[in-house]
Amino acid sequence: MAQTRLDDSQYGMSSELRQVWPVFSEPLSDEQIVSALVVSSPNLRVNFVSSLNGATTHEGRSGGLSGDADKRHFELLRRVCDVVLVGAGTVRDEGYSAMRVSEESTHWRISNGLAPHPVFAIVSRSLQLDPRSPIFADAPTRPIIVTTEVAPPDRIATLSEVADVLIAGTRTLDCSKMRTELHARKLNNILCEGGPSLFGAMLQAEVVDELFLTVSSVLEGGREFRLVGGLLSEPVKLRLASVLVAQEGLLLRYQR
Ligand SMILES: NC(=O)c1ccc[n+]([C@@H]2O[C@H](COP(=O)([O-])OP(=O)(O)OC[C@H]3O[C@@H](n4cnc5c(N)ncnc54)[C@H](OP(=O)(O)O)[C@@H]3O)[C@@H](O)[C@H]2O)c1
Repeated sequence: MAQTRLDDSQYGMSSELRQVWPVFSEPLSDEQIVSALVVSSPNLRVNFVSSLNGATTHEGRSGGLSGDADKRHFELLRRVCDVVLVGAGTVRDEGYSAMRVSEESTHWRISNGLAPHPVFAIVSRSLQLDPRSPIFADAPTRPIIVTTEVAPPDRIATLSEVADVLIAGTRTLDCSKMRTELHARKLNNILCEGGPSLFGAMLQAEVVDELFLTVSSVLEGGREFRLVGGLLSEPVKLRLASVLVAQEGLLLRYQR
């Protein structure tokens, strides 16, 4: 990666991204960003956007915190993954639809031996999910629902018609089993898009390899969701792997 000094006057397009750590770079192309995201070993990544003070929503949604650079990076993370894993709370609150990547991402995926679109995997204990939703009706690939043994059997039966149901855990979600079962389906690169409750459970279970955190240059008041839901038995230490800078804030990559 070419090394250069940063020059504020060069900040142009709002989706522009430059690396400032561990080395400075010129504005990065999609190809450069993607090549830094491709890894060969099975992995589980989590992607979030937050305010400077750790809020993950603005008026109930993450979109209010996200800018053009974050949206670009979000899509590139999807481009290289096999499965997008999301908690049902986020699916409901953010109004997720069928899991599809952009046309450009589809071309990249096909030419790199991946399915045209990632699989959509949704974590839910209650299974309060509408089987008629476009998530299932328009899905290019059959989605997966991850749940536990205490899920209502009638809902399991109904949702089994539109998705594969994966049972991981008895009363509480067994995140290690979830990860192992996803990898067993050849879904090696797992990208989790939240939310905070699911992230908290996965951190506690030590199944997270990387955190991609966009820190938007904004402070949120009120009682917005924080990045990690629930309690952790002890603080989780991460290693800073890279820092990208955009007009809207910082895109941080952390590894365990
Ligand atoms: N800033 C960001 O990048 C970002 C990313 C994601 C979400 N968010 C925001 O976060 C908020 C939602 O937070 P949240 O904590 O409720 O999200 P969440 O983790 O997506 O949803 C919680 C729900 O997902 C299921 N779930 C999650 N973890 C589970 C576990 N360990 N075991 C069993 N089921 C589990 C349960 O679904 P059931 O109720 O169906 O049983 C649970 O009620 C939304 O406002 C969303 O906009 C922000």
